[in-house]
Amino acid sequence: VVAAFEPKLLQGRRVLITAGPTYEAIDPVRGITNRSSGKMGFALARACADAGAEVCLVAGPVHLPTPLGVQRVDVLSAQDMHAAVMARAADCSVFIATAAVADWRPAQAHEQKLKKNAEAGQAKLPQLELAENPDILAQVARLPAAPFCVGFAAESHDLLKHAREKLVRKQVPLIVANIGPATFGQDDNALLLVDARGQRELSRADKLSLARELVRDIALRLDQP
Ligand code: CTP
Ligand code: CA
Repeated sequence: VVAAFEPKLLQGRRVLITAGPTYEAIDPVRGITNRSSGKMGFALARACADAGAEVCLVAGPVHLPTPLGVQRVDVLSAQDMHAAVMARAADCSVFIATAAVADWRPAQAHEQKLKKNAEAGQAKLPQLELAENPDILAQVARLPAAPFCVGFAAESHDLLKHAREKLVRKQVPLIVANIGPATFGQDDNALLLVDARGQRELSRADKLSLARELVRDIALRLDQP
């Protein structure tokens, strides 16, 4: 209902968004994941669509309805998310990475369920060997025709220092930092926008209001020469 009144700041733009956690299989019944709810990414997808953008939302395993007018691609693992994003990123003018991508995956997913008593009489615990997942945001930012890239950062300490470090390491023009305490799953949030020139706070509000503010901010940056 509100959408009709939103200014069409992203009319004619294609926006790609990642959201939610990823799930890294250990065996057919177990895996590594995290508590990301996907709410911020879904709110952003809705806000971008309301602003007139053509939105593709690459979502990890979450239980959220697809915002109206948004194309949704469901993925499980970081590698699947990486493939889905790389296939689409070059055609977009904006890439917003809200997903809590698992940094590591089991080096090998077991084809069969691991059994506790595999070796009878042996009290040996299974050892998980990990491999690093691709950094989706950093790779998109390094594409020859990279879209305008926005990263998110959730930190437990030294928020500004880590956000600045990510800005440089990932070579993105904007990092949006969640102002703690841990906001996973909550409906509201406060954000710190960090770029090469400085930082600006978006005060605590519900995620859709914050998403609309962030869309206005991004649209202004796109229009700058
Ligand atoms: N990101 C990504 N692919 C990854 C890891 C992170 O696209 N494999 C993106 C996230 O979606 C987010 C940003 O990079 O937009 C920052 O993620 P974060 O986990 O805070 O950064 P890391 O580089 O993984 O560093 P660390 O977890 O050690 O803080
Ligand atoms: Ca990480």
